[in-house]
Amino acid sequence: MATVATEPFEGQKPGTSGLRKKAKEFRRPGYTENFVQSIFDAIGTADLTQSTLVVGGDGRYYMRDALRIIVQMAAANKVGRVVVGKNGILSTPAVSTLIRKRKSLGGIILTASHNPGGPDGDFGIKYNTGNGGPAPEGITKAIFEKTKSIKEYRICKEVQAEFDCIGEQTFLGGQFVLEIVDSITDYAALMKEIFDFDLLRTFLSGGKFRILVDAMNGVMGPYASRIFCEELGAPAESVIRNVPLEDFGGGHPDPNLTYAADLVAVLKKGEHDFGAAFDGDGDRNMILGRGGFFVNPSDSLAVIAAHNQSIPYFKQTGMKGMARSMPTSGAIDRVAKEDHFSLYEVPTGWKFFGNLMDAGKLSLCGEESFGTGSDHVREKDGLWAVLAWLTILATSKQSVEQVVNSHWTKYGRNFFTRYDYEGVESVGANEMMEKLRTIVANPADVIGKEFAGKDDNRRYTLSACDDFRYEDPIDKSITEKQGVRFIFSDGSRIVFRLSGTGTGGATIRLYIDSFESDPTRQMEDAQVALRPLIDIALEISQLQKHTGRTEPTVIT
Ligand code: G1P
Ligand code: ZN
Repeated sequence: MATVATEPFEGQKPGTSGLRKKAKEFRRPGYTENFVQSIFDAIGTADLTQSTLVVGGDGRYYMRDALRIIVQMAAANKVGRVVVGKNGILSTPAVSTLIRKRKSLGGIILTASHNPGGPDGDFGIKYNTGNGGPAPEGITKAIFEKTKSIKEYRICKEVQAEFDCIGEQTFLGGQFVLEIVDSITDYAALMKEIFDFDLLRTFLSGGKFRILVDAMNGVMGPYASRIFCEELGAPAESVIRNVPLEDFGGGHPDPNLTYAADLVAVLKKGEHDFGAAFDGDGDRNMILGRGGFFVNPSDSLAVIAAHNQSIPYFKQTGMKGMARSMPTSGAIDRVAKEDHFSLYEVPTGWKFFGNLMDAGKLSLCGEESFGTGSDHVREKDGLWAVLAWLTILATSKQSVEQVVNSHWTKYGRNFFTRYDYEGVESVGANEMMEKLRTIVANPADVIGKEFAGKDDNRRYTLSACDDFRYEDPIDKSITEKQGVRFIFSDGSRIVFRLSGTGTGGATIRLYIDSFESDPTRQMEDAQVALRPLIDIALEISQLQKHTGRTEPTVIT
């Protein structure tokens, strides 16, 4: 075992979801080691010999090297047992499943989620705690503090592990055990407890109801093939791009209309009843219907909420409460209100749902960024969302489009869009946010003011504005500066925030949400319906002036 002297690297600050940087950065000698040692230092010096740590990732470039380092450092930091998926492969929800099942100390996930991979792409390391969820702010801050003063790390190079055969390997005279497990088995078993696999098998087998699932060459290929094809009887060609690749085949493994455009194009041919895509690490999902009908993630969450009793798990556990991240549309709020469930609004990032779930107050939650999940694990779960949708379709005997349309008829429709301006110069982006913060810091100057879009006679009166601040109802911790909000008298909202997951420059996210109760206007295209609010947002923020951008990179 060696103790190696080191010096701090700047900027090892975990963002919305762990530390994300260019893979090149992680490859700098000592960079990964410093961050991993800081995790061990932050979680304390207690006796770890009886503890289990779960480690796995999405198979992207540099994962194997990072995995080897983490295993050697876990041994040196006296962790008793490390559980790793075969070849290091574990989806993010599968890590969460294993942490919980093995009553582990925690887990380390090697992924940069939906960011591109490969030698020039991104890499990431995220620490999850014993509840299976992303470490809360208190712990990520402690890790960051450790990275700033680190002087040495511990590593056991004599631990030469193999990752390709299932079973246990013992090192250091039996003091350290490395256990390689099948990447899918425990996760698939959990899905069988949650959903009615007999119902789904009848629905999918024989290819009567045709599905097309795009794993985008991320981690989900093997999971999707095993569950949809082997377990549920869908034909093998139902899962495409199902081989995990280090660079995701050069693609951007993000399931949205821009980066999963190929899938949308195939669905448009009208040969499939249902389409879905996952991101690199399998926690995000996109749902499509026949003809490429797009289900906005905020609507997807609301639909699952409305149909929650068709899912056996919710029937058994009861619906304890619902939640969404602040920028997510208010569609789920309407279901919660109508059906009498509590509804929580938390900042962006899955870590904020964990406390509510652990306290037994939350069963179902989601984000507008293609994240949906429940308290079966403590991460969002893409495949779970697809099984939830298939359950709804199998029980309601309606098409995706019919399910969504009848939802709007019953609850009204929240039009929602998100504009992403990726890779903007940080200086301009920060200036813009600062100006917006100055505006909302003096609400009296703007509240009551009337706004209108360029070519529209609809008027919007500002009724509130702030920079979102959250007090965790369980541990009372405060999280500030989570997005600048402008709320109008009809409930419409404009939200601005900067991404906390990007690795190059800044990404500005602009979110627009507006409610329509008039059934004759509910079928309108969201971009048309929201045009005046988009104009108002661009006007208030002076986005073009600050960033030089006339168009967003991605529109959802
Ligand atoms: C983005 C999403 C957010 C999600 C996170 C991790 O974070 O907006 O909802 O939780 O990725 O998947 P952002 O880049 O906006 O900080
Ligand atoms: Zn992800």
